Amino acid sequence: MLKGKEIVLGITGGIAAYKQAELTRQLIKQGADVKVVMTENATKFITPLTLQTLSGNPVYTDTFSLTGDCEIEHISLANAADIVVIAPATANIIGKIASGIADDLLSTFIMATKAPVLICPAMNTNMYTNEIVRTNIEKLSSAGYFVMEAGYGELACKTEGSGRLPPVEDILEEVMTILTEKDLAEETILITAGPTREPFDPIRFISNYSSGKMGYSFAIMAERRGADVILISGPTLLPAPSGVKLIQVSTAVEMKNAVMEYLEESTVIIKVAAVADYRPSVLSDSKIKKKDSSFNISLEKNPDIISEVGKVKGNRILVGFAMETDNLLKNAYDKMVSKNMDLIVANDLTRPGAGFQYDTNSVRIIDRSGDVRKLPLMNKKKVADKILDRIKKLCKERKAEIS
Ligand code: PMT
Repeated sequence: MLKGKEIVLGITGGIAAYKQAELTRQLIKQGADVKVVMTENATKFITPLTLQTLSGNPVYTDTFSLTGDCEIEHISLANAADIVVIAPATANIIGKIASGIADDLLSTFIMATKAPVLICPAMNTNMYTNEIVRTNIEKLSSAGYFVMEAGYGELACKTEGSGRLPPVEDILEEVMTILTEKDLAEETILITAGPTREPFDPIRFISNYSSGKMGYSFAIMAERRGADVILISGPTLLPAPSGVKLIQVSTAVEMKNAVMEYLEESTVIIKVAAVADYRPSVLSDSKIKKKDSSFNISLEKNPDIISEVGKVKGNRILVGFAMETDNLLKNAYDKMVSKNMDLIVANDLTRPGAGFQYDTNSVRIIDRSGDVRKLPLMNKKKVADKILDRIKKLCKERKAEIS
């Protein structure tokens, strides 16, 4: 997802400098070209050789002498960067940038670049909460620098508090968000994800294998593309995506109530959740004891959430998913028409790696004209991104029809 992007990683002198080996690796894995600039103090925590080996590029350090061609290369590095990431950013570098000081290679480079700069602070908690450091951080934010919140936990000095470097995966996510075009900024996208749980006593329920990965992938990608995202999720083990409004529910009825509550403000609804069609008719107050050799649960119908949304959706774009084992395309198309959806995404369950739980999916996108677009097996985030491309086109067409 970072293919063709030139990322400059600025490392300053803090214990979290060692984590930049992993960040470099992750950025490269996403296809980025990584150039590392280190302060002299940073080289005491991790060697330039490590970062040169991982990045496959020369590492620029304070001891580098800027003469002749090298100076031109240094300026061209500042010009060519798509983004600059300072991690860890010490109180010292934050203070220097905030005060306009450029007295070494890294601070000079930051002053010279026009690329977005992402600051990832890491320092002792007393330093992080120091009023001067807080003022400097605010100054950087209002000057257009992107500043991440430091994490909370045990610090290298054995105290506990705020000041930990944000996790590498969060830094990676932030880089991708900053570099992604905000082409869905006009949309408010409501996404349902995960399974529902339908209890029949205090400790047991009927559910399904949905992990939430497909729905959360939509939330992450839509947020990256600038949409306001409301994620209504059944129980999953996934972390809350950053920048997303997360509403946690458990049963289909709770999911329906939440969807209806947030429908008014939404322009797009994507129903990825695997909702239980039936729920136990009776919910016992206490644990049902084992008695006979067989046990029956009587079930009653749950609300069909997507049908109810279809009836009142107005000009909103409604996208559903289809889970079929037979006649996939016909059943999916009929489901789309009968429930007034604009698009339906059919999971190809015959493909290994598609459907529940996997990090990948293989789907067909079917529209109201009957057009079917088959996507190959790919990561669920990429699947979501491709479907969002289609949704963006539908939003544009819908707006043209209305005006
Ligand atoms: O969560 P993962 O592990 O990543 O797996 C992803 C997924 C396989 C769950 C996902 O890709 C998917 O296919 N979700 C929809 C599964 C499903 O419930 O299909 P369905 O054919 O039963 O339902 C059709 C549509 O109606 C769906 O959009 C569903 O959200 C909606 N529905 C279903 C029943 C119901 N009572 N209310 C609904 O709104």
